[in-house]
Amino acid sequence: MDNLVYILNGPNLNLLGRREPETYGALKLGDIERRCRALAGQLGLNIDFRQKNGEGELVEDIHEAIIADAGGIIINAAAYTHTSIAIHDALRAFEGVIIEVHLSNVHAREEFRHRSLIAPVAEGVIAGLGAEGYELALRAMASRLIEQVEV
Ligand code: DQA
Repeated sequence: MDNLVYILNGPNLNLLGRREPETYGALKLGDIERRCRALAGQLGLNIDFRQKNGEGELVEDIHEAIIADAGGIIINAAAYTHTSIAIHDALRAFEGVIIEVHLSNVHAREEFRHRSLIAPVAEGVIAGLGAEGYELALRAMASRLIEQVEV
């Protein structure tokens, strides 16, 4: 299904709003999901929005996206971005469009956040623009997955 996009969120992102708001913003993950749903509706995309704290659970979500033949995956793998070969490998098996998103500018933070194991398998990376990054990723998805879409 070309217009199906999985939006996958990794560990601790369920705490958004109360977790380091000076770094990650005041919005809760549910607020980001609502904004994504509203925009996806306008763009003609169907989204499946998820958050998992476990690495294996995220790998299983990627498998589901593969089996569902989704057109795209937008992924904020949170801390697993910097460590997970398993998530890297699972994403390699996905044939659709992959966009990596981070709320914070990981490159302006600690050195251990500068390396991403997702970036080598992603078409693009958006970091540092807060919740807006998810919306920009959705617009980029729409222009890749749907013909003639105005973004
Ligand atoms: C994050 C950045 C990661 O380094 C961090 O571990 C997170 C969130 C972000 O969205 O800015 O949990 O992915």
